[in-house]
Amino acid sequence: MLNFDFYNPTHIVFGKERLNELDKLVPQNAKVLITYGGGSVKKFGTLPKVTEALKGREVLEFGGIEPNPRFETLMNAVDVVKKENIDFLLAVGGGSVMDGTKFIALAANYKGNDPEKILMGGAGTVEEAVPLGTVVTLPATGSEMNMGGVVTYNGGKLVFMSPLAFPKFSFLDPTLTYSLPKKQVANGVVDAFVHTTEQYLTFPVDGRFQDRTAEGILQSLIEIGRKTMDEPEDYDTRANLVWNATMALNGVIGSGVPQDWATHMLGHEITAFYGVDHGQSLAIVLPSLLRLRKEGKKAKLIQYAERVWNITTGTDDEKMEQAITKTEEFFNSLDVKTKLSDYGIDASGIDLMIGGLEAKGLKALSETRDITLDVSRQIYEAAL
Ligand code: NZQ
Ligand code: ZN
Repeated sequence: MLNFDFYNPTHIVFGKERLNELDKLVPQNAKVLITYGGGSVKKFGTLPKVTEALKGREVLEFGGIEPNPRFETLMNAVDVVKKENIDFLLAVGGGSVMDGTKFIALAANYKGNDPEKILMGGAGTVEEAVPLGTVVTLPATGSEMNMGGVVTYNGGKLVFMSPLAFPKFSFLDPTLTYSLPKKQVANGVVDAFVHTTEQYLTFPVDGRFQDRTAEGILQSLIEIGRKTMDEPEDYDTRANLVWNATMALNGVIGSGVPQDWATHMLGHEITAFYGVDHGQSLAIVLPSLLRLRKEGKKAKLIQYAERVWNITTGTDDEKMEQAITKTEEFFNSLDVKTKLSDYGIDASGIDLMIGGLEAKGLKALSETRDITLDVSRQIYEAAL
């Protein structure tokens, strides 16, 4: 097992009808800014429940954080935080609202006049941040219990990380996710699935807890994925999606093992140039990436075939191929398509996406840094 630090300070409040407990967890004298997205939290009644729980306090609202949140929008919120002397941020929404709020928390205390640098490796220079909490309405990203975020700047999706971005608390009430369209539920299943494979399908380091836990998450998602799309209000099924999605990216399964975030990096380019949903972009990249990197991932791919998909006969190569096909079929069973052409993208788009990777210096991705721009090109080509 590799050396690691594990630190995760987020208090999880899980279950239905618990939003009244917000009053205990938001600091008593804090002036609060509630952040939200395009309005689903108003339409489906979550925002009124949150404001009711905080009644009698000084609370302001900032709406309009878009999917794949934009730097400019978030900087408008930073102005509000500064002007109004906000001392607590409460994100009510999905990954985009949570990520955007983490950025606002850091940017409000950024010393220079180039806050975009936070998105270019500068998050570590921020020494203080506005504390934040979240109320999750979309199970997918794990943002509710991690220190990362993704913001769209200058047409590209940029990742930042800071321990100051960990939410103080996150409310996970599965019933708040019942209103999600099927497509967003499917995206969430795929996102959590791929977060797990990116920390599991690398090379073995005898991380037994991490491997068995990752396999448990993958099998749970396979069991519940379609069911929770078809029966959105089956509480236990949805509760399982919510908790699996959180555990897939809160540091637990990734500690002490190699990681390969290439699927996300290649996926971000598809979203940046073509507006394809985050989950869909991952479903396009993962199968092609696994096929192209079969040799480097051989031991773990065979383990994945045997333990996750119960494929126990055939040659090593047949097992790996069957497991990749099963993965593709699983995404398709959630009505998530796995080819670029399914989203209207043809070969002419590949240069653009390779250019995007190059501009960010993403020229040596994967657990062994062998996904060069050339290999990324082959992955996109294989996904046409
Ligand atoms: O904006 P509103 O009106 O709220 O509508 C949203 C949005 O249109 C809607 N929605 C959310 N909750 C709903 C709902 N609709 C009905 N009922 C509800 N309960 O869903 C749409 C998508 O929301 P979004 O927040 O964009 O989705 P998601 O949670 O998938 O987040 C995606 C973003 O997270 C980033 C992605 O790159 C992307 O920008 N990621 C963040 C990560 C992290 N912080 O660790 C890791 C992930 O890999 C990912 O990269
Ligand atoms: Zn993701």
